[in-house]
Amino acid sequence: MDLKEIMIDELDANTFIEEKSAEIAAIVGDGIAVNALSGGVDSAVVTMLGHRALGNRLKSYFIDTGLMRKDEPEQIRQWFAELGITVEIIDAADAFFSALKGKTDPEEKREAITETFYKDIFGRLVRESGARYLLQGTNYTDVEETVAGIKRQHNILEQLGIDPQERYGYQVLEPLIQLRKPAIRLVGKTAGLNQDLYLRPPFPGPALAARVIGEVTPERVAMVRAATDIVERHLAPTGAFQYLAILHDDRVTGIRDGKRDYGCQIEVRCWNSKDAITASPTHLPFETLESLADEITNAVPGVVSVTYNITKKPPSTIEAV
Ligand code: XMP
Repeated sequence: MDLKEIMIDELDANTFIEEKSAEIAAIVGDGIAVNALSGGVDSAVVTMLGHRALGNRLKSYFIDTGLMRKDEPEQIRQWFAELGITVEIIDAADAFFSALKGKTDPEEKREAITETFYKDIFGRLVRESGARYLLQGTNYTDVEETVAGIKRQHNILEQLGIDPQERYGYQVLEPLIQLRKPAIRLVGKTAGLNQDLYLRPPFPGPALAARVIGEVTPERVAMVRAATDIVERHLAPTGAFQYLAILHDDRVTGIRDGKRDYGCQIEVRCWNSKDAITASPTHLPFETLESLADEITNAVPGVVSVTYNITKKPPSTIEAV
């Protein structure tokens, strides 16, 4: 891989912010750029850099794909409003669910999400705003995993031989591409993001679709969203790197109200990791696991089984899809 990583111990965050903002300003000139927030740290940091470089000539959007966590679009809009940055929420759920309809293969699902983002949604936003550039928070680990053929990360284009200018009609700028997560958090902190944002656990671009095994439908996303909310509330105090709920495709026999209930399974994962390249399951107290199982089976209709992943990455990966 040609790209050179900037290690956290050689990073001067202030200088990095100055240099990247100047670079963005020079490339975009007096034009307009767009970017999209996902709820993750990387896109939040890119928004800060882009805003510093371009002010109101950066149009920031939150694409509500229908795959987001509970209350996420509004929470993100509000956090940025407090920083004086306007984020417009775009309702795009129909486009994503129709692209995902009938798809069960993980890489096909990822590709459908990539195409919907870049072709349909950004394509339209770029045309309507008159922008020629899209700023995005691709990081070093995203590139590395895609190049290694482990997972097609939703935001990787050039390394897969895709020329965005040719295919979608705009250029993509990736100011964080040489950094990994801990370095990105440091840049976010230095750029003035609030702690709730720069310390957020990572969240994947394909959002809850990365956590639904099998077909991604609005009903199945609603189940994993409700389970995610419970898992995040219970596990945030652990300070773990990432914690999540996964909806499995196969069913198991359970009992509800004294009757057979052939129901769904939720898998909980809670990871210790520095940079997402390798990870190991957190040793959670059994009482925590039991209360998670109780709340998920009571609050999420149709779930009769909750399991905890005890596999390291590798051979597991952090998300399920
Ligand atoms: P995996 O599942 O590959 O995830 O072990 C490594 C880290 O990357 C996040 N992830 C993604 N982030 N686009 C992203 O921006 C994606 O397509 C994507 N897939 C996984 C994952 O949450 C973890 O932090």
